[in-house]
Amino acid sequence: MDCILCGKDHSKSGACGIISAINKRWGVPENTKKRKNNPKKATAVPNKKHKSIERKKQPKLLCGNSAQMDFGDGILYKGDCVEVMKTLDEKSVDICVTSPPYNAQKAYEKVKQTREEFFLFQKLWLEGVFRLLKDGGKLFLNIGWWCGKREKRFFLPSEMITIAVEVGFKLSSWINWVKGSLKAPQAGRASGDIYGVSPFFSNGDEPILYFTKGKRKHENNKHENWYKWTKTPWVFPTSRNKEHPATFPLELPLRCIKMTSVEGWTVLDPFGGSGTTALAARKLKRRFILIEKQKSYCELIHQKLS
Ligand SMILES: C[S@@+](CC[C@H](N)C(=O)[O-])C[C@H]1O[C@@H](n2cnc3c(N)ncnc32)[C@H](O)[C@@H]1O
Repeated sequence: MDCILCGKDHSKSGACGIISAINKRWGVPENTKKRKNNPKKATAVPNKKHKSIERKKQPKLLCGNSAQMDFGDGILYKGDCVEVMKTLDEKSVDICVTSPPYNAQKAYEKVKQTREEFFLFQKLWLEGVFRLLKDGGKLFLNIGWWCGKREKRFFLPSEMITIAVEVGFKLSSWINWVKGSLKAPQAGRASGDIYGVSPFFSNGDEPILYFTKGKRKHENNKHENWYKWTKTPWVFPTSRNKEHPATFPLELPLRCIKMTSVEGWTVLDPFGGSGTTALAARKLKRRFILIEKQKSYCELIHQKLS
């Protein structure tokens, strides 16, 4: 099988050159043994309920058909999430907390997608997550309200709900996340016909869509904030972190994870970014699977989690 990093077949030659370079940069010793490259057997995080989670002192970057880094309590895959998810075991994940790119012209969105490409991509990654989730699994999907500019823009939540429902998810409810105080809303500037009668209104909040796969399951999850957090809006500020242009505040994945899982369960974020979902999962003693396609953000995740 061709390596998704460099496109070459390493079955005879051994490890991928890109992996060696990354290993060298991160100070990871080379793995000289040849590994069998069977995508179906790629390691998802073992999910033994309530099993104690051990962190590895020296995370390893391995070569399969994608680069993997094993932290002991979770794994980071470097690659395109649609491709990587195909290699992971079906029904190996309990919940997914994520925020996909949505053509907002952020630094990590170099190529502007057409409307068709955009919707196809959203469908493909949602299908991947659906396959990986166990029955009763949950998906928290944080997105903005709009995609595109002015009159050409479309309303993202309704489009994403339509696609997710087509894929098989059920919309359970959504959380309204107020990103700043009402006195100083964080999002948006005055726009539209300046001082005219056709303004565009900007939002200081964002939706977190909450989907379920299959029948709801029950596991006792009593904690001090359970009732409080079932009420929305959730009010906490956006992250001030400048290392990545769209970082979650830790509070966001933390609440989603704490409300819908127990210790030892596995949390997926296919758009890893700076790794906030993994930090929250670790704090709550859950396992994590992160996927991130950009090398520089993988390095950032490595720094934060090692
Ligand atoms: C909205 S950001 C996620 C930020 C993250 N929630 C955090 O707290 O840092 C989306 C991330 O997805 C990554 N990304 C975009 N397309 C991807 C793909 N096809 N596969 C994997 N990662 C992708 C981008 O590089 C970016 O870091």
